[in-house]
Amino acid sequence: MKGLSTRYVCSQCGRVESKWLGRCPDCGSWNSFTEEVVQKQSKSGKSQLVSDANKIEPITLQEVIVEPDFRYSTGISELDRVLGGGIMRGGTVLLGGEPGIGKSTLMLQLLGAVQGKSVLYISGEESPGQVSMRAQRIEIPLESITLFNDTRLEPVIDLISNTHFDVIAVDSLQTLYSSELPSAPGSVNQMRTCSMELVDAAKRQGSSLFFIGHITKEGQIAGPKAIEHIVDTVLYFEQAGSGVRIIRAVKNRFGSVDEIGIFLMTEKGLTPVMDPGGFFISERTSGDLPPGIAFTAVIEGTRTFLVEIQALTIPNKTGARVYSERIDTARVTRIAAVLERHAGIILSDKEIYVNVAGGIKLQEVSIELPLALALYSAATGVPLPSSFVSLGELSLAGEVRPVSYGDKRVKGAVDMGFTHLLIPEAMPLDHQAILYRCDRIEHAIERIAIIQKHVSKRS
Ligand code: TYD
Ligand code: MG
Repeated sequence: MKGLSTRYVCSQCGRVESKWLGRCPDCGSWNSFTEEVVQKQSKSGKSQLVSDANKIEPITLQEVIVEPDFRYSTGISELDRVLGGGIMRGGTVLLGGEPGIGKSTLMLQLLGAVQGKSVLYISGEESPGQVSMRAQRIEIPLESITLFNDTRLEPVIDLISNTHFDVIAVDSLQTLYSSELPSAPGSVNQMRTCSMELVDAAKRQGSSLFFIGHITKEGQIAGPKAIEHIVDTVLYFEQAGSGVRIIRAVKNRFGSVDEIGIFLMTEKGLTPVMDPGGFFISERTSGDLPPGIAFTAVIEGTRTFLVEIQALTIPNKTGARVYSERIDTARVTRIAAVLERHAGIILSDKEIYVNVAGGIKLQEVSIELPLALALYSAATGVPLPSSFVSLGELSLAGEVRPVSYGDKRVKGAVDMGFTHLLIPEAMPLDHQAILYRCDRIEHAIERIAIIQKHVSKRS
């Protein structure tokens, strides 16, 4: 046609040629050139890819028309929370996690719970029989879910381009493959191409797309990681304590990444933990705590959780060793050094074990004072009061530093029945709880004896 010319673009690296080439001189890929039609030099002297008919004009943000009803509930509140309020129409989500953690289960539950929408489950991992049996076991309405048991990209694209589904789940990304690519299913090349084509097809239809991606136990996340930039939202499943599953958003174009969703794996699939404020604290029948246990309040998104840090120290002739999975080992080592240098609690000749009840990972700086107190308690054999919560950051100089969301943490602790709180001196707070303050680690340890006396008097 007049005014149009053809060029060839390498699908691997983007090199442009005027003639088709069997092999790209830049990246060495074979058969990677595809034909593209472009408009010849325009009046302004620049070539254009878009014809005047479908040219997009720039507009101000005010002129943008936001379509209503663009987000809807999954029917599972803990999932809505991590998604930033529900499923976005046309949004794409990657759900990653180790094999066996519950990705397929959660996906089926979502497809069964979402109300008034057409849903499609593309399963390449399991046979239709297996999927159906699982759905029956977790009591999901079978008639509401369409199953497509194919791992070839082309029929999948065909299906979703010709039939509209509101929500589409692909289980899993690793099993899908395009016969046009020479690489094996599960390779980065396959996953990237398949996911891009699927995202494209789904966006055109206004369908929301969920990809399930496996991460191996060794933390080999190259596969799902390679497509993180292609999707709008990335959720990762973590195993906390036995049966406890935590979903975290690591990327979200449509919401915050602070919120976590907490589930318990039961016989009937994943059950949301609705009121997790005190979920991570062990239940005890006797009122007294064993040595080595300290409570603190952490913030995850909009919620406050009370958590229990556990420490154990044993003598070790060859020097200090730290074993800690839920709190960064480097942080434990640093806090142990601060404790030894400024409070005289000798830990450099001990093996140190640190754990967090319920298996939740703690990353906030506010856990440093309670961690120090748990280590102090473990090393000295002096238990902390069971009604006691502390929070604060520790500097290398032994200072106890203020932390964010003081009011929220104190309120969370008081709501859970804690009565004696030790907080940093320099933290502004207007709360009616019994507050003790400290500005150095050695003062914090002195306060414990005073608090213990007050606690005994009250009871
Ligand atoms: P699954 O969803 O298959 O994990 P993934 O897709 O991430 O590999 O879940 C696997 C585990 O969950 C399996 O070991 C059995 C357990 N499970 C339950 O405990 N209760 C249930 O209702 C279901 C469906 C699975
Ligand atoms: Mg699975």
